[in-house]
Amino acid sequence: MAEKKLSGQTALVTGANSGIGEGVAISLGEAGANVVVNYVVNPDAANAVVDRIKAAGGNAVAIQADVSKEDQVISMFQQAVQQFGTIDILVNNAGLQRDAKFHEMTLAQWQLVIDINLTGQFLCAREAVREFLRRGMVADRSVALGKIICMSSVHELIPWGGHANYATSKGGIKMLMQSLAQEYGGQKIRVNSICPGAIKTPINKSAWDTPEAYNSLMTLIPYNRIGVPEDIGKLAVFLASDDSDYITGASIFIDGGMTVFEGFSTGG
Ligand code: BGC
Repeated sequence: MAEKKLSGQTALVTGANSGIGEGVAISLGEAGANVVVNYVVNPDAANAVVDRIKAAGGNAVAIQADVSKEDQVISMFQQAVQQFGTIDILVNNAGLQRDAKFHEMTLAQWQLVIDINLTGQFLCAREAVREFLRRGMVADRSVALGKIICMSSVHELIPWGGHANYATSKGGIKMLMQSLAQEYGGQKIRVNSICPGAIKTPINKSAWDTPEAYNSLMTLIPYNRIGVPEDIGKLAVFLASDDSDYITGASIFIDGGMTVFEGFSTGG
């Protein structure tokens, strides 16, 4: 059981009913935070995450909102503040892929990925900053006014053919995160990105669900294992807690070494 580093704080995690978001929500709950489990479809999965957090002694609530819709995001934050009094931590996690060869990519595929992955992070971060500024400092909870964690990807650094919409959204998140860290550092809001490599979740099932796919994936990962959502959850707890108080504007890669480009160990 993790130390309760986030006791008394409230975290809102977008896309928390599956994959990395689910792992992060559970870790934050274990660390003592109240958790808002955001979802857009599949309420049963969101309620199961809420139940798991409660069964471990935490407190959580599921709230539906499409992060790309301004009115829904505003309403989600209002409901969350009504429920828990404020938001201390935002994990901007919701994201998806719609992969296609670039010359075959439809505008709808491009737009959906940018809307959810990038505009969704803008809308949620804006509401979080507004809430941090409204609430003001609560010194016995955290030395920061608020913490925003953006779920980026190794693909904010590694270009990704066949996934231009997704890689572009992650490159955008990098600049959004850094601009916010620069703009609000003086008000003691910390903003950082987690950049996962291959984590075993539904989004990349085709990269791990057959032995051939898994072996091919391993040629990209020096540490020779796929990541799991708990790997990301532990990092999210650290970035949300005062243990990381001097970290802001940072992209933290958590990828088994994917970004050291293993191919160059025998080439170049
Ligand atoms: C993508 C996964 C991919 C991983 C490493 C992630 O951002 O969502 O599909 O496996 O990057 O390439």
